Amino acid sequence: MYPKLPNAVICATGSYLPQKVLTNKDLEKMVDTTSEWIETRTGILERRLADDDMASAEMGYRASLKAIEDAPGVKAEDIDLIIAATVTPDYQFPSTACLIQGKLGAKKAACFDLGAACPGFIYALTCGAQFIKTQEYKLILVVATDTLSRITDWQDRNTCVLFGDGASACLLKACREERGIISCLLGADGSGENLLKVPGGGSRLPASETTVKEGLHYVKMSGNEVFKFAVRIMEKTARDILKKNGLQVSDVDWFIPHQANIRIIESVAKRLKISMQKVILNVQKYGNVSAVSIPIALDEMNRSGRFKKGDLILLDAFGSGLTWASCLIKW
Ligand code: UT7
Repeated sequence: MYPKLPNAVICATGSYLPQKVLTNKDLEKMVDTTSEWIETRTGILERRLADDDMASAEMGYRASLKAIEDAPGVKAEDIDLIIAATVTPDYQFPSTACLIQGKLGAKKAACFDLGAACPGFIYALTCGAQFIKTQEYKLILVVATDTLSRITDWQDRNTCVLFGDGASACLLKACREERGIISCLLGADGSGENLLKVPGGGSRLPASETTVKEGLHYVKMSGNEVFKFAVRIMEKTARDILKKNGLQVSDVDWFIPHQANIRIIESVAKRLKISMQKVILNVQKYGNVSAVSIPIALDEMNRSGRFKKGDLILLDAFGSGLTWASCLIKW
């Protein structure tokens, strides 16, 4: 008999949200839209925007400091690995994880970025949990950070009303009890690459006068098709992970979906027959913050003391790639 492997548990959380608030009324002055359209079609009331001198690494650093403060006796120097989930790194290289490590003085930590768009936090959590399970590392910092305002075309009403900026982090450590990250399910379908992408600025279409003139460094999205995909895949991955673990929807205490659009969330909840009282929402306050939306919800629930020991939490996300992911956490 092999000894049972430990579980990875989230032992601390922290978030950073920029102070600057952009309301729907503000957007009415920028593009041909109405506050009412945005609210009824997306559920978003306002979103946060990073100041000009702030980018993903600085926000990730501030969220990480909060997570470290939340873990009694833990110092930055104790961290073995930093994984940063982001689609808006400060630079092509070095990685945003390295920049966060430098700011924290987490000298021992290995670092890498993980690009899986909106499900990026679940992908990073899954990855970190494997290093804990195999006992390769003892303390892992998982950070999600995105400055989507920098890749948003502020003249495109189809996309500019949707996104916001922010960062959120958590610390993972080993635990011998039957709790923590109990299961993860990741998926992707690269044939959907054109539904949601930033076409310019990479090795396919390097930044040039033309890419800038044509706005190819901004998010391009087929909103309606992404919407339909999201509803279908979020229901499927939620059902699949529950089945894999011999659980029912009724066993779930809290459902934390990716926060892209209230109508997507409500449709998924309805299909799953999960009460909206169990669904954690922050889309109205922060808009879609890509990989950051789910960990902000985790952090706010953790800090407000609403999670009880033993609660079953289901995370569920979709995004560019196309990618999707779900995760079951026993708190
Ligand atoms: O994290 C993943 C990232 N993305 C998403 O999750 C987005 C998923 N998709 C969505 O959330 C929705 O598809 C949107 C909110 C983007 C759009 O809502 P929709 O109900 O799918 O609208 P639509 O794209 O079918 O457009 C309906 C109309 C169009 O006008 P016409 O062609 O019918 O005259 C749009 O031009 O709404 C118009 N429209 C707007 N009108 C006022 C699009 N954006 C706006 C706007 N204000 N901001």
